[in-house]
Amino acid sequence: MRNINVGVIGCGAIGSVICRAIDTDEISGHQLKLGMKLKVLIDTHPERIEALCKSLKKKPVIIKSDASGLDEILDEVDLVIECASVAAVREFIIPALQKGKEVMILSVGALLCDPTLFEEIERIARERRCNVYIPSGAVAGLDGLKSGVIGGMHAVALTTRKPPLGFEGNEYVRERGIDLHAITDEKPLFVGSAREAVKHFPENVNVAASISLAGIGPEATKVKIVADPAATENIHEIEAKGEFGHLFVRVENVPSVANPKTSYLAALSAIATLKRISDPIRVGT
Ligand SMILES: NC(=O)c1ccc[n+]([C@@H]2O[C@H](COP(=O)([O-])OP(=O)(O)OC[C@H]3O[C@@H](n4cnc5c(N)ncnc54)[C@H](O)[C@@H]3O)[C@@H](O)[C@H]2O)c1
Repeated sequence: MRNINVGVIGCGAIGSVICRAIDTDEISGHQLKLGMKLKVLIDTHPERIEALCKSLKKKPVIIKSDASGLDEILDEVDLVIECASVAAVREFIIPALQKGKEVMILSVGALLCDPTLFEEIERIARERRCNVYIPSGAVAGLDGLKSGVIGGMHAVALTTRKPPLGFEGNEYVRERGIDLHAITDEKPLFVGSAREAVKHFPENVNVAASISLAGIGPEATKVKIVADPAATENIHEIEAKGEFGHLFVRVENVPSVANPKTSYLAALSAIATLKRISDPIRVGT
């Protein structure tokens, strides 16, 4: 198998897990057989790159804290993985696709927040015949949504539950005068479309976006956000009804050590996608 040269944008919670998996070709002692080589690391915080590099056995050859010289940098890689921020998707993914590179996007919420970005990415990817990989992130069940939608889907709903104090600092909650400390029973904070939800709950943007993309789009996908004192973790429930029948998926996420706002499953889903790229046998839709 040929080595796939990889560039990673963002050396935070997800980026670090991805880089270590590529570097050692294993995770928790589990052999990955990725056949990938880490060539480029970019992060606006040089100290994060430095900390990550210290933990790597094979140091990447190009390390950068901005997008200067990106055109030449892209010549070095086959696959660009964005795990940085909504802004980084336009900044790095568009030039990478224009150069005919394969890309992976973790900040999938960007495709809902920036109204023209999805169409632009799709158009360039078709023109340049590149793949755009969007891992399932912090949710499961996208396979069922993708299959169900082909036969006709009637409804898709996402319910996200968090401990009440997990909503501290949220502007929408503050404007409605909701006292998070006084919530003793589960309390719905928002019910509306995925399109509306991402405006008021930006921390929910990735899950709402990936469900919308896999299913029936951001206007038709319903989102309910619940402050739940019984929840100890971030919980996502997806319910869908269609010609295929009824689907219900519930994920109780363990937060990642480096960034409690990010679920560990999101980083693992990126590695599972890398395995999908390198494995000859691809199980699941
Ligand atoms: N798809 C999902 O379900 C899912 C789940 C969790 C997180 N995410 C998204 O993945 C991304 C990474 O998450 P994380 O927990 O690793 O975040 P993090 O904050 O731990 O790390 C992000 C890193 O990217 C760097 N960065 C940000 N913007 C950059 C830019 N324009 N150029 C270069 N570097 C930049 C930051 O300095 C930081 O080191 C976030 O956008 C997050 O919203 C997606």
